[in-house]
Amino acid sequence: MPEPEARPAPPRRQRAIAVRRFAGHRRMLERLDRRPLRVVQLSDLHVGLVTPQAVQLAAVALTNAQAPDLVVLTGDYIARSLRHLDTLEALLADIEAPMIAVLGNHDHWHGAEAVRRTLRRAGVQVLDNAWTLVELDGRRLQVVGLDDDATGHADPRAATRGLRADLPTLGLSHIGELADELWDRGVSLVLSGHTHAGHVMLEEAQHLTLPGLMGHRYVHGLYGCRLGERAPGALYVSAGIGASVFGLRLGERARREIPVFELGLAPGSFEEHHAEQRALPGRARYRATLQGPSDSG
Ligand SMILES: [Fe+2]
Repeated sequence: MPEPEARPAPPRRQRAIAVRRFAGHRRMLERLDRRPLRVVQLSDLHVGLVTPQAVQLAAVALTNAQAPDLVVLTGDYIARSLRHLDTLEALLADIEAPMIAVLGNHDHWHGAEAVRRTLRRAGVQVLDNAWTLVELDGRRLQVVGLDDDATGHADPRAATRGLRADLPTLGLSHIGELADELWDRGVSLVLSGHTHAGHVMLEEAQHLTLPGLMGHRYVHGLYGCRLGERAPGALYVSAGIGASVFGLRLGERARREIPVFELGLAPGSFEEHHAEQRALPGRARYRATLQGPSDSG
């Protein structure tokens, strides 16, 4: 009997990144249930000195290993300067799928136009309060992209103007706090980042994290309802990959993360990392706590 082929152990950096798989929204089933679409989310790369380059390379390798139909990028590509844009471009150019992106607060703080140009050079479509219809091997998906809300650039009305109600729709917003408004405008699943899961997040303790204390309602993971019973839509807040000020991450929930969404598979049809959670009470003026580049989010 032949020896089973020895599989190389995954590099240590790849093992440090959690790959978490979730189903899409029920409203996506009608159009995608025969051939689901796999969407991989990369968030908060924060390419720079705080996040090791080996981690960035591992994130790209893991992304490609999922064989995604589409990769979505939810902001904060840089950390505290524009010095590493060439590195960012080279990383993204290695992703083997179509890419769509929105910007985050760090991108606006340090040079939104330069970040946009870099993303486009790497083959990424950037959505600034706009939507696009992507056609992937005969399957159609509307993707709405909100510009960053923490710096006052988000315009949900403009981003969703003219959306079709009969097509599956995915929303991208660096900040998750605007998800409810997007749900009301026909976006059934919104993907966000920004919080880094608070860097330190133990199970059931999201209210004690930095974003929770700052008044965010959504800190990490799934919120809302994909079946449309308790809420018209759902939100996923990714823990992201990098950091801009300190790299410490403690607790399973705060691990570096690559979420994978199987749009067209029904919620409940396979085991997921965690269930939909209740939103925190939050504060209406969470933005007032996000005043400038000294923030770590
Ligand atoms: Fe951010």
